[in-house]
Amino acid sequence: MTQSAFRAKLLTFTGDPAQSPDAAVFHEDGVVIVEDGRVAASGAWSALKDRVSDGASVQDLRDKLIVPGFIDTHIHYPQTDMIASPAPGLLPWLETYTFPTERGFADEAVAADTARFFVDELLASGTTTALVYCTVHKQSADALFTASEAKNLRMVAGKVLMDRHCPEFLRDTTQTGYDDSAELIARWHNNGRQMYALTPRFAPTSTEAQLEACEALAKAHGDIFIQSHVAENLDEVAWVKSLFPRQRSYLDVYDHYSLLRRRAVYGHCIWLDDEDRRRMAETGAVAAHCPTSNLFLGSGLFDFAKAQETQMPVTLATDVGGGTSFSMLQTMNEAHKVARMGGHHLTATRMFWLATAGAAQALDLADKIGTLAPQSEADFVVLDPKATPLLARRTARADSLEELLFAFALLGDDRAVYETYAAGARVHSREQARR
Ligand code: GUN
Ligand code: ZN
Repeated sequence: MTQSAFRAKLLTFTGDPAQSPDAAVFHEDGVVIVEDGRVAASGAWSALKDRVSDGASVQDLRDKLIVPGFIDTHIHYPQTDMIASPAPGLLPWLETYTFPTERGFADEAVAADTARFFVDELLASGTTTALVYCTVHKQSADALFTASEAKNLRMVAGKVLMDRHCPEFLRDTTQTGYDDSAELIARWHNNGRQMYALTPRFAPTSTEAQLEACEALAKAHGDIFIQSHVAENLDEVAWVKSLFPRQRSYLDVYDHYSLLRRRAVYGHCIWLDDEDRRRMAETGAVAAHCPTSNLFLGSGLFDFAKAQETQMPVTLATDVGGGTSFSMLQTMNEAHKVARMGGHHLTATRMFWLATAGAAQALDLADKIGTLAPQSEADFVVLDPKATPLLARRTARADSLEELLFAFALLGDDRAVYETYAAGARVHSREQARR
């Protein structure tokens, strides 16, 4: 048994800090003890120092803060190189930049190179788990899983399904989409730390036959993830209404094909009504709120107050390349402002929960990731409160945990990520990356 210990300030969670004031657990002088890729123990140094074995490596990070690895619940790896491409809204952005870029992933070398860079960029931002959209090409999913497996990351990904309303060069048939997804599920789902997400891009690009194929695959594999987009943009909502006139709402299209359930994650969820939100809550389907994308594409403002009122499960996501940053800290920054525009105060403590333990719980992964609890897979981030001169000055004045976390959320990005660990192994070092 190999043991390693990390002595630092620690933050972990036992529940939602909005529900219980004790749910955020903070240790000014704490330690995480890792054995065989899992957390053996975490807590106060004074209480646990005798559990550190003689031969263990002990890293002294007392001026840093360890938090569970961030979980980004909606991101497109093929859009890495087209991040920050301007367009007057979602649909023209898809036509002008997204589809032509995704065409390139027919080439395995492009997919492999982008996947490796993407994984490194996630880790540099402190993200250790993500729900990733690939392209329609099945080898694009192989490339992403291969890059993730090489770093032993817990990653969820899937090949995009589209069999209409997209360029010919990105189109499945209903049958090839079904067969390719089934093949990828067999190859990758629960293969090591990799997990599969059935990925119909969004209702307009799937025929009814393709949505039925999704329903069949989802039924046959009760523990796979499902990911799609819903109610992001008003033009998109109107388009769905014209394509599926019999359905009560955009969300209802997915409901009709039994695609609302646990481990189903829907990007954006801006233009839902309360009946939709209640249906999400009832089925356990999860909203991925993507604030940097929503502001960048002018899609709209996610309604935090209504999400809370209806108990719709909510997580945070970047939505790169519609999103403008890989950083979950920058995502919190924008989420806070979006919530403020709706008159809702989203605390930094809650945003850190949403990006870690809250996401793990929503995704049915709480026994594996999202906290520093014993037996968790040891995925964590070491944050540096002195990462920039301004952060150093502001955090020096922070006189509560909330103020410290707020400074990280508002002023932090990949510069604040000192190191990232996955299953107990260091997978990113800021100092080494700068050399
Ligand atoms: N809706 C359908 N496809 C996409 C996509 O790639 N990005 C975003 N933001 N919305 C979508
Ligand atoms: Zn998206």
